[in-house]
Amino acid sequence: MTGIKIKTAEEIEKIRQACRIVARALKLTGKEVQPGVTTEYLDSFAERLIREEGADPVFIGYRGYRHATCMSVNEEIVHGIPGNKVLKEGDIIGVDIGSKFAGYCGDTAATFPVGEVSKKVAKLLKTGQEALIAGIRQARAGNHLGDVSAAVQKVAESKGYSVVRELYGHGIGADLHEDPLVPNFGRPGEGIELKEGMVLAIEPMLNLGGWQIRTLSDGWTIVTADKSLSCHFEHTVLITGKGPEILTRRD
Ligand code: MF3
Ligand code: CO
Ligand code: CO
Repeated sequence: MTGIKIKTAEEIEKIRQACRIVARALKLTGKEVQPGVTTEYLDSFAERLIREEGADPVFIGYRGYRHATCMSVNEEIVHGIPGNKVLKEGDIIGVDIGSKFAGYCGDTAATFPVGEVSKKVAKLLKTGQEALIAGIRQARAGNHLGDVSAAVQKVAESKGYSVVRELYGHGIGADLHEDPLVPNFGRPGEGIELKEGMVLAIEPMLNLGGWQIRTLSDGWTIVTADKSLSCHFEHTVLITGKGPEILTRRD
């Protein structure tokens, strides 16, 4: 027995709304990313966008977390806490936004360049997006979770990056984090079989250096152990009879 929930049509409609709200918030917050802004400015900007759509920022209160978003700069992988840090030209920032609407959640993230970044950094970001898309393509009924994981890992490692091994994507629905865990490494055919009506948050984290991580003394911020740059991209994806549907599309 696993705790994996197949969503009903009614549940999917609510998840869809929550996802639309975070997708819009991420798109508009991404446009605010520029040298000179603080991470707390971006956080309150995103929080307002979530609330004006009638949703709640689901990260607030999650295990005692106090902000609507996570803002992870440079070697910070995920769960960076918004604060008075000022972004500067050449930085990268991972913005992760979650909402709850009518009792259901949406979760999405992307890493944005701050002004101009080097070619090396731009390639890391491009590969992060490609790894996410490759994983999503495998999220089909009849495939296994390992097909998703292996696809992500293959794209990342073929370009010379490492994937974080101690943090995972997840099922999502009434709760932000549901079964199953969605690793970013694995072998094709392994793990549970995917079924129509499952909703997964797929979220690769790619490092320029090694995959090892460390948690800062704030208890939240996760950084690369070797202080190399890291990027994070996340979509909430519904498995339909016709293949994967990205519920947090921004275009
Ligand atoms: N959004 C993160 C994830 O992708 C979880 C953030 S939990 C928080 O799963 F408490 F840090 F906000
Ligand atoms: Co997230
Ligand atoms: Co997530």
